[in-house]
Amino acid sequence: MSELVRLTDITKVYQGGVTGALNGVSLAIEEGEFTAIMGPSGSGKSTLLNLVAGLDRPSSGSVTVAGSDLGRLSETGLARFRRDRIGFVFQFFHLLPNLTALENVLIPARLKSRVSAESAGRALMSRLGIGEVADRYPSRLSGGQQQRVAVARALINQPTLLLADEPTGALDTKSGDQVMALFAELHQEGQTIVLVTHDPKLATRYAARVISMLDGRVIDDARLETTERKPADVIRVRSEEPSR
Ligand SMILES: Nc1ncnc2c1ncn2[C@@H]1O[C@H](COP(=O)(O)OP(=O)(O)OP(=O)(O)O)[C@@H](O)[C@H]1O
Ligand SMILES: [Mg+2]
Repeated sequence: MSELVRLTDITKVYQGGVTGALNGVSLAIEEGEFTAIMGPSGSGKSTLLNLVAGLDRPSSGSVTVAGSDLGRLSETGLARFRRDRIGFVFQFFHLLPNLTALENVLIPARLKSRVSAESAGRALMSRLGIGEVADRYPSRLSGGQQQRVAVARALINQPTLLLADEPTGALDTKSGDQVMALFAELHQEGQTIVLVTHDPKLATRYAARVISMLDGRVIDDARLETTERKPADVIRVRSEEPSR
């Protein structure tokens, strides 16, 4: 495995912030890892994820992703980095209500002006078990379906790194489990994933590494033997997948 992400001595102080949101974080993530970031509210999880995504810049320290030192990129370069390298999934889906599910999935592909995007989008949605709802508007989908649309949108440009900030936080237990099983399956296919969660059960059940944060610092970093990536979960989320 080769190294995909390296954070070196990162600090982040927000404008008007009394204490630092991050206070000296150094860590590396290998290609293909499924890492969960845990920690109490305010410990700096989202701040860390946003820096890796190139959505924000650190106050000091360096962030390198797939060989790019993000601090050396211009705003345009950073936007291109996000488009080409990063898939991001949010807690509250952030789907555009006036676009269909498929049109939402295709937004990043359109930014890249990929010609054959529509058939790729439909194939991806069907793989994620949402092929049948591709032409519906988000308001007519369940929370779990909306989040799978958001995952499809994050994956459409085949990102190097899939990042998710509390992707199950707004879902019921069953939908949350389906989304996590989907992440586990993507990980088994080689996708590098970093996921923020409050839920220790989900983190230890699905992720292979758990980083714990407190007050802007990493206080624990554990690689786990994951026990329960049940094939049944994987089959359930892939029920619509045509044979490949
Ligand atoms: N845009 C901002 N401006 C000022 N302070 C901020 C901003 N975003 C976060 N903070 C502060 O930085 C610290 C870390 O916040 P962060 O959102 O990274 O925590 P978190 O671990 O993701 O918390 P949660 O579990 O509640 O999402 C907190 O003290 C927070 O108040
Ligand atoms: Mg957060």
